[in-house]
Amino acid sequence: MKPAEAQKRIAELREEVARHQRLYDRSRPEIADFEFDRLKRRLADLEREFPQFITDESPTQSIGDERAEGFARVKHRMAMMTLDNTYDEAELRDFHARLAKALETEDLAYTVEPKIDGVAVSLTYEQGRLTRAVTRGDGEEGDDVTANVRTIRGLPHELKGRLPPDVVEIRGEVFLTEEEFRRINQQQEEAGEEPYANPRNLAAGTLKQLDARLVAGRRLEIVLYGLGHCEPEVVDSQTGLQAQLQAWGLPVVEKFWAVRGIDAVWAAIRELDGLRRGFAYGTDGAVVKLDSFGQQRHKKIGFRGADASGQAEAARKLSPRWACAYKFAPDRAETRVRDIAIQVGRTGVLTPVAELAPVFLAGTTVKRATLHNADEIARKDVRVGDAVLIEKAGEIIPAVVAVLTDKRPADSRAYAFPKKCPVCHTAAVRAEGEVAWRCPNPDCPEKVRRRIAYFASKGCLDIDGLGEEIVDLLLKQGLIRTIPDLFRLKLEDLLPLKKSGEVWAGNLIAAIAARRNAELWRVINGLGLPQVGAAAAKELARTFRSLEALLVAGEDELIRVEGFGEKTAAAVHAWLSDESNRRLVRELIAAGLEPAAPAATGSVFAGKVFVLTGTLPMLSREQATAMIEAAGGKASGSVSRKTSYVLAGEEAGSKLDKARELGVPVIDEAEFRRMLGA
Ligand code: IVH
Repeated sequence: MKPAEAQKRIAELREEVARHQRLYDRSRPEIADFEFDRLKRRLADLEREFPQFITDESPTQSIGDERAEGFARVKHRMAMMTLDNTYDEAELRDFHARLAKALETEDLAYTVEPKIDGVAVSLTYEQGRLTRAVTRGDGEEGDDVTANVRTIRGLPHELKGRLPPDVVEIRGEVFLTEEEFRRINQQQEEAGEEPYANPRNLAAGTLKQLDARLVAGRRLEIVLYGLGHCEPEVVDSQTGLQAQLQAWGLPVVEKFWAVRGIDAVWAAIRELDGLRRGFAYGTDGAVVKLDSFGQQRHKKIGFRGADASGQAEAARKLSPRWACAYKFAPDRAETRVRDIAIQVGRTGVLTPVAELAPVFLAGTTVKRATLHNADEIARKDVRVGDAVLIEKAGEIIPAVVAVLTDKRPADSRAYAFPKKCPVCHTAAVRAEGEVAWRCPNPDCPEKVRRRIAYFASKGCLDIDGLGEEIVDLLLKQGLIRTIPDLFRLKLEDLLPLKKSGEVWAGNLIAAIAARRNAELWRVINGLGLPQVGAAAAKELARTFRSLEALLVAGEDELIRVEGFGEKTAAAVHAWLSDESNRRLVRELIAAGLEPAAPAATGSVFAGKVFVLTGTLPMLSREQATAMIEAAGGKASGSVSRKTSYVLAGEEAGSKLDKARELGVPVIDEAEFRRMLGA
C-alpha cells in the first residue's frame, strides 16, 4: 500500500472505530464485538506499518473513556489499564516467547482465568472498609459509583480477617447474569423502552444510573481478580492474590488454572472453553497472567504505551505486557438471505430485517437478523440471495457479520433501499444527521396500528385483552381509527365480531373502562412523545399532574423537568405544539379519560424512619436501605416510638416483638414495594 492510500485508510478506520465505540457506549452496538476488535486490529496493523500517521487522537492510543455526566470524578491511586485482545493461538505463543526471552527462561508460571464480559471497576477498602467504587474512566480517573456498587448483594462492605491493609484497590468486573438480563429487558420492553443488546451493555447502563433505587431493583453481581495500589503489600503473586481475595470474603472467579509453560496455558484455555457456558457471568475469553508479581515488574517486561514509537518511558501506559487476553471466536453459522423485509415502526422508522433460511445457532433456530439501517446494508453490501455468516456473541439478537461474496449468485444485484414506505407508499424521508429513513405520513396504516397497540400495551395503558391482533381486527372492521375511538366503543359494535362473542365483548369494554383512570404517566408514555420513555413520562406526570397542564407547558418549564435537556424539551414542545397532537389529547379528555395524578411528594418516605429485620425474599439489606434513602427516608438499627415502619422478612426476631409492643406498623417486602410504587 502506498503511504497516501494508507493515510486515507487509517483516517477511515479511525472514524469507523470511533463511531462503533460511541454506539457501544450508548448500549446500541451495530456490530458484534468480534467485528469491532477486527476493525481495531486492522487500524493498529496499518499504524504499525505506517507509524508516521499515528496521532494522539487515534483510538489505538487510548483505552477509551466511559465517564458519564452526573458522577463525581475520582483519581485511581494506580492507573487502571486494559489488555489488547488476540483471537490467535500463534500470537499467544509470541506473548510467551517475548516473556521467556526477557526473563531468560521457558519455565514460566502463569495463571489462566476467565475473561469476564462485564464492566471494570476498582474498589477501595481502607482499614478493611469499602470506601469507594470507581469505574475505569480514561484509566487515570473514573466515575464514583460507590452508591450503586453498594447495592450489590454478596459484596462485603468489610473485609474478613484481622489486619487488613491500610489501603487496597481491588479490581474486578460488575456483571448481570443472562437470566437477570432477560428479566430486566422484558420489563424494559413492557415499559416501552428499547431493550439492551446484551448483558454487558445493561450492566454498564445500570452502573451509570443516577438513581440508586433503580439500581437496587436490578441484581448486579461482581467478581474480583486484580490488585491496584496496596499499602502495605500483602501478596506477591496472582495465585496468592486469588487466595487472599477469597480469605477476605470477596467473590472470585469460579475457576482459574495455575500452570507452567505455554503448552499448559493452551491446555487450560481449551478446558476453560469447555466450561465457560456454565459460569454465572459471560466469559468471552481467557486472561493469561504471569504469576509472580516480581516477574511482572521486571524492567524488561514493561507496558504498551500511548506513544507513536512505542518506547518513550513517560508515555501513558495502556496495557501491561505481563498479561494477555485471548478471546474465543464467537458462535457463527452460515445461511442464506431469502429476503430483506422493511418494518415500519410506531414512529415511522423503516428498519430492514434479513429473512434467513432457518439455521441452528448457539441453542436457538435463527430466522431473522436485523440489518439496522440503510447505511449498514450498503457498508456490508448485503443482497437478497447472498450467503452470509451470522453470529451471536453475547448479543441476543443475531447479527449478519459478513457476506460470503465468493458464493454470491451471478445475477445478484445491490440492494436498493426502498424510497417509499412499503405500507402506505409515501416517499420516505431522512432527517439531517440521522441514519434512519422514516415514513412521514401520520396516517400511515401501519404507524396507526402500531401506535394504538403501543398505547394499549403493558408499559402504557395496560388494557387487558387488547393486543395487536384485536387492534388489527377493530381497525379492519372500521370500528376505530384513532386512540380516542377506543373509549367510544360500544358493546353492540363488538358483538358481531366473534362467534358467541358476548363474554369477550363485555370483557373488553370493561377492561377499557377500567383504565379510564390509569396513572397519568401511562397515558403520557402511551402517546409516544419524542424522546419520552417510561422514566421521562413519570417525570412529566410528576411535574404537570394533568393532561391539560401538559398541553400548555412552555419550553422553559419543560427544560426544568428532571432529566430533561434542551433537546428533549424542544422535541416535546414541538410535539405539544402540533395541532393534530393537541387534537388527540383533547379528544382523549373529551372521550372520558381522566388519568390519576401521582402522589404530591416526590420523596415518598420523607421524614420516615425504617427498621429492617429478618431476611427479605428479594432484597438484600443494602438494597432495601438504598431504596429507603433514595426515597428520602432513613434506616435505623433499633425500634423505638420514633420508628415509622418495621420492614420484616423471614426469621425476624426481637425487633418484631418490640414493634408489636410499641404499636409500630410492620410491613413486608411486597407492601414496601407498593408504597414505593415499584
Ligand atoms: S486483569 C491491566 N483479569 O478484560 C489489566 N482483566 O481485556 C489487567 N477482564 O481491562 C486486567 N476478566 O476489564 C483481568 N480475569 C480477568 C479479567 C479481566 C475480565 C477485563 C478487564 C480488562 C479487560 C482486558
